[in-house]
Amino acid sequence: MKKVLITRKLFDGAFNRLKRSKFFGEIELDYWDQLSPIPKKELEKRAVGCNAILCSLEDQIDKKIIQNNPQLSVISNYAVGVNNIDTNYCREKSIPVGHTPGVLTEATADLSFALLISAARNIVSSSQSIPKGDWKYWDPEGHLGIELAGKSLGIVGAGRIGKAMAYRAHHGFNMKIQYFNRSKNSELEKNTKAQRVDLSTLARESDFVSIHLPLNDQTVGFIGRDFFNEMKETAILINTARGKIINQSELYQILKDRKIFAAALDVTDPEPLPPGHQLLTLSNCLITPHIGSSTFQTRLSMASIAVENLIDGLEGRELTHRFC
Ligand code: GLV
Ligand code: GLV
Repeated sequence: MKKVLITRKLFDGAFNRLKRSKFFGEIELDYWDQLSPIPKKELEKRAVGCNAILCSLEDQIDKKIIQNNPQLSVISNYAVGVNNIDTNYCREKSIPVGHTPGVLTEATADLSFALLISAARNIVSSSQSIPKGDWKYWDPEGHLGIELAGKSLGIVGAGRIGKAMAYRAHHGFNMKIQYFNRSKNSELEKNTKAQRVDLSTLARESDFVSIHLPLNDQTVGFIGRDFFNEMKETAILINTARGKIINQSELYQILKDRKIFAAALDVTDPEPLPPGHQLLTLSNCLITPHIGSSTFQTRLSMASIAVENLIDGLEGRELTHRFC
């Protein structure tokens, strides 16, 4: 009997897809049907002997867990980013890893843009000032922010989400697009008149910078002091990718010293960010709790794709959305 571990509560619509699969009666299902993550010890224990694991982005599927499971034949991640999984080792062991690309592109670009405008116009801080009694009169110099039209947006990582962000900025707000990417993105250039530049030019010339890189060995701490020192004093940094891409203590310093205007982060290191963390003490740092993909439509699609990949793997087919 094949053993399947699911480490997070799935929407009924997605779970029912698994129930309808022809082998459902023949598998031994271990379902951690909670909204909160499975403790690491439980994960390690329950993963032993599994043929398939459907996990969330908070579950570290490291080499040890994989080594303890010689029969593991598929890992399906309930996320597009797979930095929680030792993918190098999976490649070595020929264990397919599934993820959920495409379906969260628009939702995540929406949130990136929402953060951009919120930071530029002090939306959260000005709103929070009202219950404190700080709205006393129309203040000609209160909550002054930054306009978007005609400004330049630097996209770091021109994958699906970076591209969707660039479209919003260019077509909706008449912004000038520059991007940093390993390879040229002709479609992006054609559709948004984007210009490919090196990282230092992007840092120097952008009014807004939005990070859309995957997290891996090459991108850990990719954006740090050197980059910040080249940014404009009026610039705003947005990150909806992964917290570890930014050197967070260096970001804290630059924000504290007001060397850039603001940062807006949907991802941090660690997650969750503990109350009292130094970044939470800054008035020019807006933080949301990793909600980039959090729309009804997108989260259901992600769960459904994760189940689809799981079934593909169990039935020995090529995964519909395989990362590696
Ligand atoms: C969310 O961050 C994801 O990688 O799906
Ligand atoms: C993620 O899906 C990306 O390619 O940006």
